[in-house]
Amino acid sequence: MAWVRIAELGRHAGEEVTLKGWLYSRRSSGKVHFLTLRDGSGLCQCVASPSDLGAERFAAADHLRQETALEATGVVRADTRAPGGFELALSDYRVIAGAADYPLTPKEHGVGYLLELRHLWLRSPRQRAILKVRAEVVAACRDFLDRRGFVLFDTPVLTPTSCEGTTTLFEIDYFGERKAYLTQSGQLYAEAGAMALGRVYCFGPVFRAEKSKTRRHLTEFWMVEPEAAFFTLQEDMELAEEMVASLLHRVLERCAGELRVLERDTAPLERAATLPFPRLSYDEAVEHLKAAGLPSNWGDDLGADEETALSRAFEQPVLIHRYPAACKPFYMKRDPARPELALCVDMLAPEGFGEIIGGGQREDELEPLSQRLVASGLDPQPFQWYLDLRRFGSVPHAGFGMGIERVVAWVCGLHHVREAIPFPRMMERIEP
Ligand code: 4AD
Ligand code: MG
Repeated sequence: MAWVRIAELGRHAGEEVTLKGWLYSRRSSGKVHFLTLRDGSGLCQCVASPSDLGAERFAAADHLRQETALEATGVVRADTRAPGGFELALSDYRVIAGAADYPLTPKEHGVGYLLELRHLWLRSPRQRAILKVRAEVVAACRDFLDRRGFVLFDTPVLTPTSCEGTTTLFEIDYFGERKAYLTQSGQLYAEAGAMALGRVYCFGPVFRAEKSKTRRHLTEFWMVEPEAAFFTLQEDMELAEEMVASLLHRVLERCAGELRVLERDTAPLERAATLPFPRLSYDEAVEHLKAAGLPSNWGDDLGADEETALSRAFEQPVLIHRYPAACKPFYMKRDPARPELALCVDMLAPEGFGEIIGGGQREDELEPLSQRLVASGLDPQPFQWYLDLRRFGSVPHAGFGMGIERVVAWVCGLHHVREAIPFPRMMERIEP
């Protein structure tokens, strides 16, 4: 019998097929049993009747436990009431493996309990939908950058230095000989890549020893980081907004079913996908916040409350550029017109989701860069390779980093980023 996946049932109406999956739920009217099977691609209701199965197997079907692994054979019938539009008139089934008392019943569970059982929680339709959207977001970024001539450039996870400041560094004992660190960002290495290949991007896990338990922070997350030679802040902002608009269009087009499962209102996402995105200088952002009654002082970094307020003020993501250099890392280029400002940009997603992108133009001159390294309290010795990039044909260049979990949380409408990655790592949790 032809094995098909539930997502493909529509192409097999009227045919007899076999599904392979797990029992998601079961109910009975007495006369017929309804077994809902999940196979990772969707849910399918299988209708069991004594006339098709015989009395004994029909009776046994009413005792199958949740998450029993099954092969189910039957004829595919269109049924508008069925989830997915098709059901299976069961002619045969075979148990592949039983399941003991499954700890996640369809009733509501607390999030602590669910996180404890994350390895099983992943099987729920909601988590499946989120992870499908995540995969689509990742594919959309890759395709977008590939089409633009950016070359995938894998940067190291084990590094001798910090990139984003020393307060969030995970330290590793490297063979008892020296310290090493888990990377916070591939940017510095991507800059070397941009000088070799012109336009590159790295895409991998990054690590931050964030001592903050907020809904936006993980200690391990994934970041896509394009970096381009001869880009200024202007071109960097254009690339960022085009990438975000492009991924929104793609997810809206290809993940409509998943967004429905998540009960995500897609109208705000449609509106958000309109180019160009609004831009505010940091100066203007502070004025905006003051006018909205938030106590903001020029010179302070924008905190979570400020970000939320700004991100609620626009229907599209908003680009905030030219922050005071003092709140940004050493590698940022200063604005020649106002040296107290950095040529940087943050993108804040709407509906209160906040920062999804950080980036900007890099300091391409040797002297100010080495001075700022020292001023930030960093040892310049392990950064000599990075300074070399300014010694040999240094050119203006820029890039940014986009946190995948933040984007997935926004697109899916999740309250917390912990659901946006298969196995979240947070200050208080590293298991399972
Ligand atoms: O703003 P960040 O720290 O920028 C950088 O790391 C730059 N080196 C990137 C670059 O220019 N190539 O981080 C970039 C993005 C943030 O906007 C946010 O989306 C995400 O990474 N991010 C986090 N996501 C989850 N948990 C955390 N603890 C995060 N910290 C940053
Ligand atoms: Mg940032």
